[in-house]
Amino acid sequence: MGEVIIRGMLSQDIDQIMNIERICFSLPWSKASFVNELKNELAYYQVAEESGKIAAYMGMWKIIDECHITNVAVLPEYRNKGIAGMLINKMIEICRCSEISAMTLEVRVSNEPAINLYKKYGFFAVGKRPKYYVKPVEDALIMWKKLP
Ligand SMILES: CC(C)(COP(=O)(O)OP(=O)(O)OC[C@H]1O[C@@H](n2cnc3c(N)ncnc32)[C@H](O)[C@@H]1OP(=O)(O)O)[C@@H](O)C(=O)NCCC(=O)NCCS
Repeated sequence: MGEVIIRGMLSQDIDQIMNIERICFSLPWSKASFVNELKNELAYYQVAEESGKIAAYMGMWKIIDECHITNVAVLPEYRNKGIAGMLINKMIEICRCSEISAMTLEVRVSNEPAINLYKKYGFFAVGKRPKYYVKPVEDALIMWKKLP
């Protein structure tokens, strides 16, 4: 694997992001959702690029002094190489520069890779949202990370 660059998502990335969505999620976001997210001044989207290819992306919304992570996805052939960790570190850095006091997210209770990923970067589980997800129906684990 060549050098991985973490940078802000651009509109020309959206077609590759849609491919990642279709591969990674049972209910991928629409192209229009990403177009709108790039216009939303409260939204922060970062991509991981390797040799001109988008390998992964991550998004979050800044809501007053909290950040809500919307999504993180890595193409299967790029997994277990620390790329999601690089994206989370970038988001943490953005939060620290924006006086954000906490970060939160929801994750499927069965999604062990993602739950382990978030725990590794200091998130802890605080509760569940019953039947939060569809396709298949599943509870969400609610996780938070405090930023000192
Ligand atoms: C979850 C996901 C983003 C992890 O991406 P990744 O780039 O492979 O993760 P990293 O290589 O940065 O791994 C960081 C940590 O995550 C955890 N982790 C990653 N893959 C794992 C797996 N298959 N099983 C268990 N833990 C795993 C580990 O704690 C790992 O740390 P370690 O390498 O020191 O053990 C990726 O598997 C993915 O895109 N999954 C599909 C989409 C998804 O479920 N997104 C989350 C929605 S909430």
